[in-house]
Amino acid sequence: MSIAPTETAAWRALRAHHESFAGVTLRDLFRDDPGRAARMTHAVEELRVDLSKHLATPETMRLLLALAEERGVAAGFERMFHGEILNPTEERAVLHVALRNRASTPIRVEGKNVMPQIYACLARMRTLAERIRSGEHTGFGGEPITDIVNIGIGGSDLGPAMVCDALRPYWKRGLRAHFVSNVDGTHLARTLEEVDPRTTLFIVASKTFTTAETLTNARTARSWLVEHHGNELAVGNHFVAVSTNHDAVREFGIDADHCFELWDWVGGRYSLWSAIGLPIACVVGMDHFEELLAGAHVMDQHARHAPLEQNLPVLSALLGVWYANFFGWASWAVIPYDQSLARLPAWLQQGDMESNGKRTRADGAVIEGYDTGPIVWGEPGTNAQHSFFQLLHQGTRPVPVDFIAPMRSHHPLPEHHDHLLANLLAQAEALMIGKTEAEARAELEAHGDDEATIARLLPHKVFAGNRPSTMILFDSLDPRTLGMLLALYEHRIFVQGLIWGVNSFDQWGVELGKQLAKAILGELRGSSSGDHDASTAAAIAHVRARRLS
Ligand code: F6P
Repeated sequence: MSIAPTETAAWRALRAHHESFAGVTLRDLFRDDPGRAARMTHAVEELRVDLSKHLATPETMRLLLALAEERGVAAGFERMFHGEILNPTEERAVLHVALRNRASTPIRVEGKNVMPQIYACLARMRTLAERIRSGEHTGFGGEPITDIVNIGIGGSDLGPAMVCDALRPYWKRGLRAHFVSNVDGTHLARTLEEVDPRTTLFIVASKTFTTAETLTNARTARSWLVEHHGNELAVGNHFVAVSTNHDAVREFGIDADHCFELWDWVGGRYSLWSAIGLPIACVVGMDHFEELLAGAHVMDQHARHAPLEQNLPVLSALLGVWYANFFGWASWAVIPYDQSLARLPAWLQQGDMESNGKRTRADGAVIEGYDTGPIVWGEPGTNAQHSFFQLLHQGTRPVPVDFIAPMRSHHPLPEHHDHLLANLLAQAEALMIGKTEAEARAELEAHGDDEATIARLLPHKVFAGNRPSTMILFDSLDPRTLGMLLALYEHRIFVQGLIWGVNSFDQWGVELGKQLAKAILGELRGSSSGDHDASTAAAIAHVRARRLS
């Protein structure tokens, strides 16, 4: 059995270091160290990542890097790239890095080079995307496709939905992508209202092809389509699938020619780089999709080869561990100052929380004495400033923040981007420097307030500050940069998983709810009965009574 991170020498040293950390302020760290900002800012191509606003001294970084050494982070990357079983509970390799391997080097799983099948799949994606974009692939009645509706959930939805939204400026005019995930009929019904059955292509995206939500939505969409065309054969023109489960796809009525392959060594939440990215390839074109892969590949190479002290995913992960495990801060906010990245926090939520939301180590030991994955959340700025930033500035629980922004907008309306970036910079600075009592008092005095007013308002005007953030800046949100950014976060998750000793690539925690939902569905329909606690039993009875009446 492996050892817990808490048993390492580096962890113990970090604990002692944290105790001596009380009273350290970012203001002081910057004042005493003029080289800090430059030294703690790193770049991979145009992705500039400033880590200087973190509550870390050179000694903190030295100890965190020692922790990474002790937990075998560099070796972990090697194991990943060599196709070793990093997901032991499902006995699977973890090779999303192979999907974006642009170097033509072989990557093997159980001795077999997987690159030829990846290239073959990319070639098939290109063919379909180009046929759709050129109008060669038509609907059943011969009309060109105008709308792609992706039906999937979790990793079969969030990645492609987020990337499509992020890359909207690259969309082909006259071709739109829609995403239906929720089994709530409203989601599908609203989408079907927007599209035309003559010109819509459905992509049923499900790694397992057993996910109840996706299959329910897919069946309803199929009936809608067939009803319109009055012919089952229309399915051939209007449905494709992406899955590992070819039998289930065939059973659903989609033939092998229209089924895109996925492999069990691609985790659902790491799958946007595979044929799960088909909606992306259709709307932005395969060349742009390959640029996305190329960007991710650049970050893969950096993660694998850059020395730990310059390695962005490693440094970012270690700082997250520092806050989660030594300061006890449970959450992490990701705030893109870019409306196109509105879905980034949702994608990262699944990526991080489904990967590292674990209470058992990979070797089966129950985790005690330390926390694992953080609660990940966020919304785009500046909107977020007008909703939850109050808590970030003055709440009792500090939340480390990642700020993300492009220097140029795809929509350069006069004034807008300056406002956006000024706000981004101001928020990070405000969180860090805060406002002392003396500064707040001086402001109130300058405002002409009397002493009674000052005494009443002063406590509310003080900002503790010292709240850390990362700032990620890049020139413009293009496919390559986006690929780098997303891969940076994927590798951060991997590194944290290695530190905590968890298997970041299984997700048993989602199973219990699925099992119970299946049983309760039968009970709601009156076809079975079950044993429940009194609260659940009463709720089932209520639902049955109210729905039937
Ligand atoms: O329920 C969780 C999950 O298994 C995710 O891990 C996955 O991304 C999602 O469901 C969808 O799974 P599938 O692609 O097999 O439909």
